[in-house]
Amino acid sequence: MKIMQPITVGGITLKNRIMFPPLTTGYEERDGSIGEQSRAFYTRLAQGGVGYIVLGDVAPIRSFSPTPKLFDDSQIESFRLLADSVHAYGAKLGVQIFHPEYDCDAVNALFAQGKMEEVRARLHHDMQFFTDEVSEETLLSIIDKICACAQRAQKAGVDVVQVHGDRLVGCLCSTRMNHRTDKFGGSLENRTRFAIMLVRALKRAVPEMVIDYKFAVVTPERGKGGVDAADAPKFARWLEEAGVDMLHVAQANHTGNMADTIPPMGVQPYGFFADIAGQVKEAVSIPVSTVGRIIDPAMAERIVESEKADIIGLGRPLLCDPDWPNKAQSGCACDIRRCISCNKGCTDNIQNRAFLACVLNAENGYERTRSITPAAEKRNVAVVGGGPSGLEAA
Ligand SMILES: Cc1cc2nc3c(=O)[nH]c(=O)nc-3n(C[C@H](O)[C@H](O)[C@H](O)COP(=O)(O)O)c2cc1C
Repeated sequence: MKIMQPITVGGITLKNRIMFPPLTTGYEERDGSIGEQSRAFYTRLAQGGVGYIVLGDVAPIRSFSPTPKLFDDSQIESFRLLADSVHAYGAKLGVQIFHPEYDCDAVNALFAQGKMEEVRARLHHDMQFFTDEVSEETLLSIIDKICACAQRAQKAGVDVVQVHGDRLVGCLCSTRMNHRTDKFGGSLENRTRFAIMLVRALKRAVPEMVIDYKFAVVTPERGKGGVDAADAPKFARWLEEAGVDMLHVAQANHTGNMADTIPPMGVQPYGFFADIAGQVKEAVSIPVSTVGRIIDPAMAERIVESEKADIIGLGRPLLCDPDWPNKAQSGCACDIRRCISCNKGCTDNIQNRAFLACVLNAENGYERTRSITPAAEKRNVAVVGGGPSGLEAA
């Protein structure tokens, strides 16, 4: 199968074209460093055969978000242990570096003074207005923080830095979120200026790392923080010229409705972003990945065969069955436990500030402590109830 063939991206080779896209997991330690639960989860994915793993939402600053963070050198070692662990199974590791749509320094200062009411008010305000109000000086300092974070990731042995082209970067690119009148607002060139500056700065800061870019696209019906679909091919070419090695084409965004990016069953068809990825791919010569309800190997193969994308992102499907790539490779596709896009264990848990767990995979989130194996002593068991849990138990 073509999806199982290696592909070269920048200076590295991915052993196959299956990618675990960025997903916030809630498995990290309180300071954002990578602990045992997180390491066990990603190592399990690597064991299952995935070629490229991206750590979602890695913050380059101390922030409120319950996400991984890499703002201090003391955290490098925990990322190094993770990189070593997934490398042992031949997977490459990327970190998606993001900056939220609020003034982290201002919010942190209020928090340190215990002014929680003001923290909440500031967050509420910034989520709507930070894109328009952030100063050029602050934007430049954010670039510095992201570059310093990338340098720490490089020291840890991480292979790829993925720019989060949604969130703050995407909001600046967006015709819906950006109402600025200075050189960061107005024309497409102005709105994407920050993104291009960031890519160029990363190229200088970590010339040896591969640069992936989460290419968030706003469609007429969905999303807010990203580039409009009509402008996508042009912006993709500019990113390639600036030094981006691969594009991860996905639906925008987080400042809109979660169901836009992470559609539950019935909201979007399978492989719903493949056609837009195909339009972007036609405009560039670097590899393009896509993501969104691609749940079985035949679907993934059709997308790669029809040249809509080079690499296939499997988010929820790998939570549901981390052995998906190995099963596809060995021709056992019908043994794959298929994601039903219920969003119950993954998205709902994250929104409730808990950690990822899949209702169809009882090991997910507990990779360190649970391993379900055939019973040593076999008995006759009646399973009462035919919902997802009953069927899984059966
Ligand atoms: C629980 C959860 C958390 C996510 N967190 C992120 C994130 O941190 N950054 C990001 O760019 N996308 C994030 N996404 C979106 C995924 O990368 C992906 O685009 C989406 O799940 C659709 O792909 P799928 O159908 O293969 O799951 C998240 C998705 C889920 C389910």
